[in-house]
Order: sequence, then structure tokens, then C-alpha cells
Amino acid sequence: MRVELLVLLAPFISVALAQDLSTRAVKRAFDTADIPADLAITFNPSALLEVTFPQTSGPAITLHAGIQLPRNATAGPPTFSVLGASSRGPFVVAAVDPDAPTPQTPTNAQIRHFLGGDFTTASLSGALRNSTAAVSAFRQPTPPAGSDPHRYIFLLFNQPPGFESQTVVTPTTSIALFNISAFASQVGLGNPIAGTFMLVGPDPA
Ligand SMILES: *[C@@H]1O[C@H](CO)[C@@H](O)[C@H](O)[C@H]1NC(C)=O
Ligand SMILES: *[C@@H]1O[C@H](CO)[C@@H](O)[C@H](O)[C@H]1NC(C)=O
Ligand SMILES: *[C@@H]1O[C@H](CO)[C@@H](O)[C@H](O)[C@H]1NC(C)=O
Repeated sequence: MRVELLVLLAPFISVALAQDLSTRAVKRAFDTADIPADLAITFNPSALLEVTFPQTSGPAITLHAGIQLPRNATAGPPTFSVLGASSRGPFVVAAVDPDAPTPQTPTNAQIRHFLGGDFTTASLSGALRNSTAAVSAFRQPTPPAGSDPHRYIFLLFNQPPGFESQTVVTPTTSIALFNISAFASQVGLGNPIAGTFMLVGPDPA
């Protein structure tokens, strides 16, 4: 291969290693990790959701479905982008942990790690920007000592009219014992159109 071509391709090669590139691969990763069954959702993504965690030093980390990150890389708050949406929004982003306190005995699950609406994008592939405060601000993963890694699942939904005035979840609603499937049907979110997830274990002892 000519050097010029390699130079041209280099940015795409590093992108390929860093983030989700195909809805089919994301769906496969969700299915392999039992996420649709455990969340009681139908997951047939039509777009890609990019979730990016800023780092105190070094480049930000963009998730690919199933990546394992050390807890200290997940302080966030993350930023979001969409690739291949069929509208510019508005969208709702939700993040849940179905594995609390442990994947074997998830008696507190789901923990709601983020819930926010009014995300819009200037183009069908681009950064998601929100004009209003999140319903549930982002909370860093905190799996307890001794736990296996938890799944932290980010989902993108089309936002139905009237979502701003829903009161099923407010900033004072407990983040524990959340059910994203029940919430989606209560407020009319429909099925998620995109998603990704990461695995995060407890801090090293
Ligand atoms: C996370 O902790 C590890 C050591 O446990 C350290 O090498 C790394 O730099 C830390 N990363 C951040 C983002 O603080
Ligand atoms: C927007 O979303 C971010 C998370 O991406 C959140 O931290 C913030 O509170 C939200 N609201 C505003 C007004 O930025
Ligand atoms: C969440 O709600 C759905 C109904 O939308 C239900 O099928 C499922 O069992 C619930 N999950 C839990 C853990 O209660």
C-alpha cells in the first residue's frame, strides 16, 4: 500500500479500534451480554450512540459496546454523539446499571446513572446537545468491593411530545429499583434507537 494512502487511512484505523462502527455489531454485543433480556427491551438499533468520557490526562475515551474501563476513567460526565440518526431529535438518553449490587444478586437494580431529554443534533451524525438540565444527573459507576464488573448501558430514544412534563421520574426520585422498560412504556419512549455499554469493576483494593 502506498504511504500516502496509509496516512489518509490512519485516522480511520484508530477510530475503528475505539468506537462502535456497525449497528449489527452493537446488537450482537448487547445480545451476547444478555442486555435485551435483562432490561426487558427490544434492541434493534438503527443508529450508533457514541458515549465519550473526558480524562484528566490524555485523550477522551469513546466507548465501544462491551469495553471494560477502570473506574477512575469514568468520572464523566460523558458527552454524547449520534451517527446515522433519522432525525435531529429531540432525543432522550438513559444510562442504567442492571447489576447492582452484584450481577449475581441484583437486588437494587436497575440503578439509574443518567436520564436526560431535549438532546438535539445539528446534523444526522453529530454531537448531541441538551438545552435543559438532566432529570437524573450522571453518576459515576461505584460497584462495591468484591463485585464482578457491572454493565453500564447507555440508550438513545426518540423523545415523545410532552416528555418535559413527565413526573414519573424527577430529580428527587430514588435512583435504585429503576426499570427502563417500564419507564419507556409509561412515558411513551418506544424502543431504543441506539445504545452502547461498558463494563466497570470496583477500584483495585
Ligand atoms: C487510574 O488508576 C491507575 C492506577 O490504578 C492509573 O495508572 C491511571 O492513571 C488512573 N487513571 C486516571 C484517569 O486517573
Ligand atoms: C446536559 O447533559 C449533561 C450530560 O451529558 C449533563 O451533565 C447536564 O446537566 C445536562 N444539562 C445541561 C443544561 O447541560
Ligand atoms: C421491568 O418492567 C417490565 C415491563 O415493562 C417487566 O417485564 C420487567 O419484568 C421489569 N423488570 C424488573 C426487574 O422488574
